[in-house]
Amino acid sequence: MLMARKIKRFFSVELIIFLCLILTLALSVIFFVLNIEHYDYIIETNAFFAPFEYYSNREIKGVDVDIVNRVAEKMDKTIQLKNVEFDVIIDNVSDGIIADAGAAGLTITEPRLQKVDFSIPYYTSVQYVIFSQTNLPNIHNNYLVWEDLAGKTLGSQTGCTGYLFMSDEVDSGVLEGTDTKIKGFDSHQIAADAISAHLIDYAIADELAAKFIVEKNPNLAALPLYYSGTDGMPDEPAEESYAIAVNKNRPELLSAINEVLTEMLEPGEDGKSEIDKLILKHMGLTDE
Ligand code: ARG
Repeated sequence: MLMARKIKRFFSVELIIFLCLILTLALSVIFFVLNIEHYDYIIETNAFFAPFEYYSNREIKGVDVDIVNRVAEKMDKTIQLKNVEFDVIIDNVSDGIIADAGAAGLTITEPRLQKVDFSIPYYTSVQYVIFSQTNLPNIHNNYLVWEDLAGKTLGSQTGCTGYLFMSDEVDSGVLEGTDTKIKGFDSHQIAADAISAHLIDYAIADELAAKFIVEKNPNLAALPLYYSGTDGMPDEPAEESYAIAVNKNRPELLSAINEVLTEMLEPGEDGKSEIDKLILKHMGLTDE
C-alpha cells in the first residue's frame, strides 16, 4: 500500500518535470520557427526607395537605416526595421499596435499629421518626371510643368506624394478633362520599369529616387516637375520635407529621434552634415 503510493507520487513528480521539459522544448521550437524575438520598438519602412532604403545582400540599407540605428544606440533599446508596403505605414504607425514609427523618406503632409507625429525634417525634396529617351516630353528650361503631361498615361508609387499630387491634378487641377490616365505601382522602380515596358508614358517620383533609377538605366532620363506660375509668378516646384513618423503616444521615441537628427544635420568642418554624407554614400557617389 505504502509502496504503491510512493510509486504513484514518484511518477507524478517525474511526469510534471517531463511535461515541463516538453513544453519548454515545444515553445523554443515555435519561437525558432516563427522567429519571434522581442524588440523595444518596431519601425516600418518600404525598402525600395534608394538612397533612403534599399535591399543589399538581403539586408535593408540606406540613410533612414543609419538614422534608426543611431536612435537605437542613443536610447540603448532594440529596434526592428521592418519592410512593408508603403501605403500601410502611416496607418500602422497611427494604430501603434504593430509599429511604433515609420522611416521611409516620408513627406510631412497635413492629412498624415492628423494621424501621426513627425520628427524634425531631415531632407527637402521635389517631384521629378522620369521619361524614356525615345519618348521625350515637351521640355523647357530644364524642367516640365504639369500641363506638359496632358493626355499621357502617368504612373507613380501608390500612396506616395507623387501619386497624390498627380491624382489631384487629374481630378480637379490642370489635367482635369485632358484624358490623362494614372496608374499606381508598388514602387518608383516598378513604375519606371513600366515606361520601358510601354505601359505608361512617364513616371512621377521623388528627386533622389528618380536620379538613382535613371543613373542605373541609360534609356531613361528625369527632370523636375514644376507648377506653372499664375499672374506673372514664376513656375515653381512644390518642396517636400522628409521626416520620421512616430505614433502619437511615443514621446520618448520622438524626442530621441529629434536629438539624433539634430546631431546628424549639424554641418561639419567641410560644410556637409552627416546626412549629406550618408546621401552621397548611399547614392554610390563616394567610397566612404
Ligand atoms: N516622399 C514620398 C512620400 O512620402 C515617397 C516616399 C516613398 N518611400 C519609400 N520608402 N518607398 O509619399
